[in-house]
Amino acid sequence: MSYDKAATAAEFIRARFPEAISTAVVLGSGLGAFGNAVENAVSIPYEEIPGFARSTVVGHAGRLVLGKVSSINVAVQQGRFHFYEGYDMEQVILPTRTFGLLGIKNLIVTNAAGSMNSDMPPGSLMLITDHLNCMGVNPLRGANDERFGPRFPDMTEVYDREFQRIADEEANAIAAERGQESGTDFLHRGIYCALSGPTYETPAEVRMYRNFGADAVGMSTVPEAVTARHMGMRTLGISCITNLAAGMVDGEIDHSHVMDTGAQTAEVFGELLRRIIGRIG
Ligand code: HPA
Repeated sequence: MSYDKAATAAEFIRARFPEAISTAVVLGSGLGAFGNAVENAVSIPYEEIPGFARSTVVGHAGRLVLGKVSSINVAVQQGRFHFYEGYDMEQVILPTRTFGLLGIKNLIVTNAAGSMNSDMPPGSLMLITDHLNCMGVNPLRGANDERFGPRFPDMTEVYDREFQRIADEEANAIAAERGQESGTDFLHRGIYCALSGPTYETPAEVRMYRNFGADAVGMSTVPEAVTARHMGMRTLGISCITNLAAGMVDGEIDHSHVMDTGAQTAEVFGELLRRIIGRIG
């Protein structure tokens, strides 16, 4: 990754939105609505940002929204770049690199994912506690620029423990306000397994990843989380469970259904994000 490329993108964004930004949020498939919750928003289509690719997936708006959530300045990625779209990893992680160079300290990564745990049904949310990178490629492969971070970054705690605690507390608070007993009703905890896609898994693959210890499968998030860790940003990951993984129920997995389920969780998902952003500052 050329440092200059990320620096140029950061400079362009800073010219449009000169205030300091605390937290960046990456919105997954079907979860883009949260971008509309940003107040005093300045929206920049990706094609205007130097070096950024275009978002080609249905359900991803393809723009960066800058403004306030819970009185905190945020940068919200409405749509991300996926490896399966044919982008190389450098393009996939350019937004994260750019956030780091903008001085953003916190990253919240979200995604739509399939559940491999029948106790975690569609419509629930999963706090990512760790991940398996089964994409077949590491986003940091290639020459390392020490200005970003070390050659061999530690991955013991990719997802910040303190942020996980805050997310749990806020989920419990939402549940209590709604008269439910505990936040775990909709905020589960688990391990996210990232695959390159674009195919969904075969039932045999789902059995294998489950035996590997994963709870949810998806096609994103790990590149951004690894990159953020490399740059010393603190990361929180949340999966929106849109379906049970292949072979766990009769019938096929369908992208439009995945999108619809994502949209159905929009209200509680947005509420949780707003509260977490207010807490992590
Ligand atoms: N597999 C992989 N990616 C996904 C799935 C799934 O079942 N659901 C949403 N994204």
